[in-house]
Amino acid sequence: MNRGKYYITTPIYYPSGKLHIGHSYTTVAADAMARYKRLQGYDVMFLTGTDEHGQKIQRLAEENGVSPKKYVDDIVDGIKKLWSLMKITNDKFIRTTDDYHVASVQKIFRKLYDKGDIYKSEYEGWYCTPCESFWTETQLKDGKCPDCGREVELTREESYFFRLSKYQDRLIKHLEENPDFIQPVSRKIEMKNNFIKPGLEDLCVSRTSFNWGVPVSFDDEHVVYVWIDALSNYITALGYMSDNDEDFRRFWPADVHLVGKEIVRFHTIIWPAMLMALDLPLPKQVYGHGWLVLDGGKMSKSKGNVVDPVVLVDKYGLDAIRYFLLREVPFGSDGVFSNEALINRINSDLANDLGNLVSRTVAMIRKYFNGIIPENRVKGDPDDDLITTVIETPGKVEDLLDKLQFSTALQEIWKTISRTNKYIDETMPWVLAKEEEKKPRLAQVLYNLAESIRIISILIQPFMPETPEKIWEQLSICQSCRSWESAREWGRYSGDVPVKPGQVIFPRIDLEKELKELEKDTSDDSVKKDLPEIKPQVEIDDFAKLDLRVARVISCEKVPKSNKLLKLQLDIGLEVRQVVSGIAKHYSPEELVGKKVIMIANLKPAKLMGIESQGMILAASDKGDKNLVLATVDNDIPVGNIIS
Ligand code: ME8
Ligand code: MG
Repeated sequence: MNRGKYYITTPIYYPSGKLHIGHSYTTVAADAMARYKRLQGYDVMFLTGTDEHGQKIQRLAEENGVSPKKYVDDIVDGIKKLWSLMKITNDKFIRTTDDYHVASVQKIFRKLYDKGDIYKSEYEGWYCTPCESFWTETQLKDGKCPDCGREVELTREESYFFRLSKYQDRLIKHLEENPDFIQPVSRKIEMKNNFIKPGLEDLCVSRTSFNWGVPVSFDDEHVVYVWIDALSNYITALGYMSDNDEDFRRFWPADVHLVGKEIVRFHTIIWPAMLMALDLPLPKQVYGHGWLVLDGGKMSKSKGNVVDPVVLVDKYGLDAIRYFLLREVPFGSDGVFSNEALINRINSDLANDLGNLVSRTVAMIRKYFNGIIPENRVKGDPDDDLITTVIETPGKVEDLLDKLQFSTALQEIWKTISRTNKYIDETMPWVLAKEEEKKPRLAQVLYNLAESIRIISILIQPFMPETPEKIWEQLSICQSCRSWESAREWGRYSGDVPVKPGQVIFPRIDLEKELKELEKDTSDDSVKKDLPEIKPQVEIDDFAKLDLRVARVISCEKVPKSNKLLKLQLDIGLEVRQVVSGIAKHYSPEELVGKKVIMIANLKPAKLMGIESQGMILAASDKGDKNLVLATVDNDIPVGNIIS
């Protein structure tokens, strides 16, 4: 059955560091939608990818001493591996460094320029590099980026501008005429009142101060602003303005762009205005979901919480992680991630509710009927209520999924699971089993349980790529009674095949023990073991014997024939000292000049490679001196001052 097309996208990710579980959030949600729509019979296009240009990436590459392309290639590989580990079923993966994308972006820019919607002028304003965002003076909050609170930089350069202001009225009209365009509603109100209504200013859409970007084809000093480049991906991936634009004609406009709340602004103002300027239809919806944060702050490895998706999937299994992401927090709101909450969900919803239902049912069918439910069955009292509940669930789940309400859709499925578990308590199969004449009734009860599980196993497919198969295997659910539509029909399970006991689908986790283990994994225990014991105590007088002083490096050179030693001339206020130090692998002579360091001024002079060293400078290093950092002093302290 073909029900038409469905085009869904995730944002394209910045390859700027390690991915944490929060990053998987949008992609897992989009994947659940793509799977759901395919099951319904839609022709689905699910797009994800990477956003690889911009100053931030260029700087990171420089810091790492590699070319930007080399830098992104490595991370993009990791991202692709992660999506395959998480069984993300994207139909396309776009990289903004792909040739076809670059060519299309250049054509888009040219088209807008020819039309007069892009013009050349001069830009002066503030730029937040981490956010890749421009801000006007008045938009700054205490002189900092209003989005992330970090430092902004004053930029003045010749630039191309996009006539965003021209589209203000059309945008407001579009929002009014299409109430579902921005979801959830709270985000729509925020966009309209805080961004569109105060007035849209033309947007600076090219840069000349760095070159890691798509060059403007007719003015190669300029690279295209990274958001213009990135947003275009949603159409360039489909072949827009290329020789083969079949997918574009089939799938555009997108049914939904899923994005995190911090980038709703770009997707509901700049992107629609660009599309209007290109005379293209707008996406049907932009859905801004909330953030997954750690207790008390941003996501990073701390407080015994593992946030590395690879580790999490390895520890708890893919389906548990995907379930948690989509169940724990209503899509649209912010939510807190913790390993404790994850384990609690696994234990209660997965091991207890779903896992037990399956294993108890399989075990009873084996125990009472040697694995095959007989045909002669008798209907009994709580059956109708169970059947009604189960059979109404698919419709409810579809309505909720169509609104991207993953968490409530899962709640509906879990209500059915609870109802089915309650049915076991009501019918008490173990009591029925005691009397031979109750066997037909027992058969009916077990059939109803198996049938309910069949329907549940179909409905969890969008969320869980692995579990349905395991259930089908154990209950011998045939191909033809696994289809999405068959979830609406009670009675499709054929009981004439033997059930097979399998592994426990969701093992219970000992919460206390697991949290202790995690604490160990994430603390610095492994490092501690390698550290030397603390030396015997000293008196304050022992310490006072050391003459520690602030010294400024006046000059510095390599010691010939040594790859370890540097010879430094240090100003210690009273005199100039020469010190030889084994730090050549960690510092170049040039970068040391001017630094204020701490030296032991009364250490007996010694000779290193024939050169006298009149003291020692302090540094911190790890075992084997792999990393070493000099102890330096803030510039406020004059040289010569004694450290006590
Ligand atoms: O924004 N919780 O890329 P990105 C939930 N390149 N979602 C999170 C999250 C968290 N803790 N951390 C990140 C960009 N995300 C641009 C997009 S689209 C034309 C260009 C989400 O790698 C974030 O909200 O910074 C966003 O939707 C996605 O991960 C990619 O973020
Ligand atoms: Mg971001």
